[in-house]
Amino acid sequence: MKRTVIYPGSFDPVTLGHLQVIRRAARMFDKVIVAVLINSSKTPTFTVSERMELLRDATADLENVEISGFEGLLAEYARERNVTAIVKGLRAVSDFEYEFQMAIANKKLNPELETIFITADSDLMYLSSSMVREIGSMGGDISNFVPACLHDRIVRKLRK
Ligand code: PNS
Repeated sequence: MKRTVIYPGSFDPVTLGHLQVIRRAARMFDKVIVAVLINSSKTPTFTVSERMELLRDATADLENVEISGFEGLLAEYARERNVTAIVKGLRAVSDFEYEFQMAIANKKLNPELETIFITADSDLMYLSSSMVREIGSMGGDISNFVPACLHDRIVRKLRK
């Protein structure tokens, strides 16, 4: 049986931390569906199609990675795609409570759905999309935080 997982997130924009989780998941599973979803507590800077395009370019060398977008519940999307596991990245302990709540809620909504946590390397532990947006919009150097092939596009958008 093919083992497929969904890696959901806002990816506003994708960072080197996200990319590390995608690469690790792509080594562990037959297929990784990276799903750009709506986080209702956030107002995005990049449109869904911009975020998907950035993700597509950053993962172009990974044959078993698909980039998708979905407006609705993750638990429903997993059911629709016939997927029974999602992957989430865990950076620091501070992520844990929020991620734990989401894992339990998703399991209540879709009892088939398991959440698998992948930790980031210590040098990427501090990294978040909001930090990239803040530094980039104030003219700071984000080259250590985002994939090199996306750097100029992300900077252009953030400085607008
Ligand atoms: O990168 P983020 O913002 O931490 O990702 C959060 C995301 C988008 C995965 C979460 O908000 C989500 O799953 N949104 C889809 C709607 C949904 O299912 N909400 C209930 C989550 S328990």
